[in-house]
Amino acid sequence: MLEPAEDKNNVSSLQAMITSAIDFISALCYGQNVVKKTTNGWYSWRELYRTDSFCDHLLIDKEQHRVISKDKEERDTMKIGFIGAGKVGCTLGKFFTEGGIRMTGYYSRHIESAKAAADFTGTCCYDELSRLVHDSDAIFITVPDGTITSIYKELIKFDIRGKQICHCSGSISAGEAFPDAAETGALVYSIHPLFPISDKFTTYRELTDAFFCLEGDEKCVNEWKERLELMGAKTQVINPKDKVSYHAGCAMASNLVCALLHESIGLLKECGFSETGARKALAPLIRSNIGHILTDGPVKALTGPVERNDIGTVRKHIDCFRTNAEKELYCTVSSDLIQIAREKHPDTDFSEMENVLREELVNE
Ligand SMILES: NC(=O)c1ccc[n+]([C@@H]2O[C@H](COP(=O)([O-])OP(=O)(O)OC[C@H]3O[C@@H](n4cnc5c(N)ncnc54)[C@H](OP(=O)(O)O)[C@@H]3O)[C@@H](O)[C@H]2O)c1
Repeated sequence: MLEPAEDKNNVSSLQAMITSAIDFISALCYGQNVVKKTTNGWYSWRELYRTDSFCDHLLIDKEQHRVISKDKEERDTMKIGFIGAGKVGCTLGKFFTEGGIRMTGYYSRHIESAKAAADFTGTCCYDELSRLVHDSDAIFITVPDGTITSIYKELIKFDIRGKQICHCSGSISAGEAFPDAAETGALVYSIHPLFPISDKFTTYRELTDAFFCLEGDEKCVNEWKERLELMGAKTQVINPKDKVSYHAGCAMASNLVCALLHESIGLLKECGFSETGARKALAPLIRSNIGHILTDGPVKALTGPVERNDIGTVRKHIDCFRTNAEKELYCTVSSDLIQIAREKHPDTDFSEMENVLREELVNE
C-alpha cells in the first residue's frame, strides 16, 4: 500500500532526528576528551560534531532539510573561513551554516570574539592565521574597510594559490583591496550584503530577504551568485569601477535617511513630543511613504508643499528653522524635490519655488 507523501516525510524526518540524536550524544561523549586547546586552536564538541571524518552523514541529514539540492550539496565541498568575528562575520557565518555551506571557522583580533563566533556557528576558533588559511578554500575578510588590505598582506605570506579571497565592503573593489592578486594565484572578489547588519547574533534571521552585490573574479562571482540565490537571497553583479557610486546610493537610502529623521524627531520634540512619542507619531507616515516609494516609485509617491507648488508654506517652513544648517538641509533637499515634482506635473511652473530655495541657499 502506498503511504501518503506526508507520512513518508514524517518517517524520514523522525529517522533523521533519531540519527542526529545518536550522533549528538556520541559527539558529546567523544568531545569530553578533547575540549581543549590543540595545535589547530580551541575545539569544542560542536566543532568535532561538524568535522567531516567524525560524522559526515549528519551534515548530509541536516542538509536534506535545507534549500540546497542534493546535486548542489555533492558538488559544493568548499569550506569557508572568516577573518574578523564582528557583525558581518558572525551574521554571514550563521547564514552560511544555516544554508548548508561548510565552514572552517574564525580568526579574529581578539580570541574571545573568534570563540564567540565559533560557538554561535558551531565552527572552529583559530588562534593562528596560518591554520585558518590552510584549512579553508575561501577566506572572507570581514574586518573594517581600512584594515582589509593589511590583512591581505598578511595572507600573501602563506601559500594562497587557488584559494578564494573575499571581502564584504560596499565601497572598495576586490582589485583595489587585494593588489597584485594575480601574482599570488588567489582568486579575489567581493560580496557586499546590502543590509544594515547591526547585531552579531540576531540579524542573520533577516538575511534571507537581503540583497548581495558581487564583483571580481568571474568564476567565483558566478559560483557565489548561484550559492546565494539557492539560499533565497537576491543578487546583482556590478562593474568594479561602479562600487563607490553604488555604495553612495546605498548610503543615501539608509544612512542619510537617519539624518532626515533625526531632524524630524528633533522638530517634533521642540513642539512638546517625547522622543518615543515623536517616533510613534511619525511611524505611520514613514511606513506609508516608504511603502509607496518602493511600490510606485518616488515620482508617484511624492506629496507635500513642494509637489503642490505651495510657496507660502515652504517659506514658513524655512522661517521656523533655528539654525542655518537646518535651513540649508531643508532647501537643498527641497530643490531636489522640485525635479521630481516637475516629472510628476510637467505643466506646472515651479520656477518661483526654485528661486525661493536658491536665494535661501545663496544667503547662507
Ligand atoms: N555592518 C554592516 O551593516 C555592514 C554591511 C555591509 C558590509 N559591511 C562590511 O563588512 C565589513 C565588516 O564590518 P562589520 O560591521 O562586521 O564590522 P565590526 O562589527 O566592527 O567587526 C569587525 C571585526 O574585525 C575584527 N578585526 C579588526 N581588526 C582586525 C585585525 N587586524 N585582525 C583580525 N580581526 C580584526 C574585529 O575583531 P575583534 O572583535 O576580535 O576585535 C571585529 O570583530 C566591513 O568591510 C564593512 O564595510 C558591513
